[in-house]
Amino acid sequence: MRDGDASDFAAVLLEWYDRHARAMPWRVPPEEKKAGVKPDPYRVWLSEVMLQQTTVAAVREYFRRFTERWPTVADLAAAEDAAVMGEWAGLGYYARARNLLACARAVVRDHGGVFPATRDGLLGLPGIGPYTASAIAAIAHDEPATVVDGNVERVMARLWRVETPLPTAKPELTRLAADLTPQERPGDYAQAVMDLGATICTPRNPACGICPWRDPCRARAEGVQASLPRKVEKAAKPVREGVLWIARRADGAWLVERRAERGLLGGMLGFPGSDWDGAGGAEPVAAEWQEVGEVRHTFTHFHLILRCRIARVAAGVEPRRGMFMAKADFRPSDLPTVMRKAFDLTEAAFSPS
Ligand code: ADE
Repeated sequence: MRDGDASDFAAVLLEWYDRHARAMPWRVPPEEKKAGVKPDPYRVWLSEVMLQQTTVAAVREYFRRFTERWPTVADLAAAEDAAVMGEWAGLGYYARARNLLACARAVVRDHGGVFPATRDGLLGLPGIGPYTASAIAAIAHDEPATVVDGNVERVMARLWRVETPLPTAKPELTRLAADLTPQERPGDYAQAVMDLGATICTPRNPACGICPWRDPCRARAEGVQASLPRKVEKAAKPVREGVLWIARRADGAWLVERRAERGLLGGMLGFPGSDWDGAGGAEPVAAEWQEVGEVRHTFTHFHLILRCRIARVAAGVEPRRGMFMAKADFRPSDLPTVMRKAFDLTEAAFSPS
């Protein structure tokens, strides 16, 4: 195939997808789709929210646990906030989990427990932006919406040899992706472009030799695929620092607090800490504190270093901040990753307990 019309591009890619679609727990494979099986919008929505900023490999296990525990949107809507935040722990970008709950509750409250069937309808729900609305409309309802994630941007930049760097190139790449979106099987097509980007048109060492679009690909023709898409160089991330206080009572209870809804790690369980401005802060409970090391974690816009201090606290001591959580109720898996790192670092210092 050389510069054919848009339907040729889609036909070639769909043929490839019929043979190579990745198996995913939320996906209806192409042969079943053709046999009339409809994807469950709840599962499509949940997977798409989880997949934002996160790899398929990382999402699989979370998706399995969520759908086992909450098989329908009504089940999720009825869940306790803390249970959902706990199951989300480790996936990152915790605003997604708060919006997930708000969205499930809006679907039940305002839409009778049924996700709206159109992109426009979906856009009215909390936490559903243009990407997610397009993905659900296309994948669950076969609306010919254009789905553009990082994979799709890379594929379009190479296919059409777009030299404009990201993020400036976004509107152009979206337009190019829209031009190729077919009326037939748009849901399979959307997933096919993403699969192509994830498995063949990869950021490094793309497997051009086996790509269904190798003939029309302009970047490949010029041998410049490895340098596309271009990106505006990002400024180095600043480093922020703080202190974490990790206290354990004689009965094994841990001093924890639920973080404020707004801001990073909002709504998540954690250990009391200082602001992340290097200025230190007030200890959450009077005790003999001992510094045991530091943990490092990188967020989207900065690196964080937290110095960890631990203390054993006698029974009956009231904390100034946070609450003691009984050993039986404390699940390290409920902690966001940076807090989990601190837990892993300090747990040994407390044992045996
Ligand atoms: N990345 C995000 N959503 C995806 C999907 N539905 N298929 C493949 N990759 C994806």
